[in-house]
Amino acid sequence: MSRKIGDVILDLQNISLRFGGVKALTDISFDIREHEVRAIIGPNGAGKSSMLNVINGVYHPQEGKIFYRGEERRKMEPHMAASTGIARTFQNIALFKGMSVLDNIMTGRNLKMKTNILLQALWLGPAQKEEIEHRRKVEEIIDFLEIQHIRKTPVGRLPYGLQKRVDLGRALAMEPQILLLDEPMAGMNVEEKQDMCRFILDVNDQFGTTIVLIEHDMGVVMDISDRVVVLDYGKKIGDGVPDEVRSNPEVIKAYLGAGH
Ligand SMILES: Nc1ncnc2c1ncn2[C@@H]1O[C@H](COP(=O)(O)OP(=O)(O)OP(=O)(O)O)[C@@H](O)[C@H]1O
Ligand SMILES: [Mg+2]
Repeated sequence: MSRKIGDVILDLQNISLRFGGVKALTDISFDIREHEVRAIIGPNGAGKSSMLNVINGVYHPQEGKIFYRGEERRKMEPHMAASTGIARTFQNIALFKGMSVLDNIMTGRNLKMKTNILLQALWLGPAQKEEIEHRRKVEEIIDFLEIQHIRKTPVGRLPYGLQKRVDLGRALAMEPQILLLDEPMAGMNVEEKQDMCRFILDVNDQFGTTIVLIEHDMGVVMDISDRVVVLDYGKKIGDGVPDEVRSNPEVIKAYLGAGH
């Protein structure tokens, strides 16, 4: 890979997460390096989405430690994760269907807004300046994702592939250092997948964003990932560069067993 991979940015150590009697994650350790594309794969119910929710602070594991840039991370709320530079997209799109593409992406800027809502509503001095700056950033993202032609279209009227792209735009509006993508290509046709791959790699390249990607399409995963973690029934069964993972007997068994 030509991209420059840096130091460990996030280090997950012995993470266990339970929901009542369900063991979603059991003693999982792996790290994420700056600027890499790190995939998490595994059969349905393996614990992939739960892992993303641990990373962004929505779920609090009963056991284990998380180090962010070398410092142990304490219990944190999701809004804190966003302000520390972690953004995500969702397995099921969580956009406002009746709102335009532009306004949906603008919601990603909310955390960055300093002046209060009342001032913004009154359209006064500093608020106005800030609003202009946010709009400029959002327009930049719209250009980057090549969705100028639909910027005023309500999201609910767009085909699925484009909705996923808008969801990516909303996450990018937070200017994250780590971007968590939960099955960004699920339900897409081949052409839409190719586009999404290109945008993910461009984000990684041009903004230097670290990407954590959950994806079921093995071709895509092996193509664009630097390293891959494999989960099965909440346990880690493989970790390494795509070639290592591909030839790992436990991984092959898990996938054949699950009918993938
Ligand atoms: N909020 C929750 N409450 C209870 N159980 C949960 C919750 N979230 C996940 N689980 C359980 O934890 C396990 C892992 O689920 P998770 O959604 O993380 O898997 P996944 O690998 O993302 O699966 P998929 O490929 O289907 O998206 C499953 O048994 C699931 O039912
Ligand atoms: Mg999932």
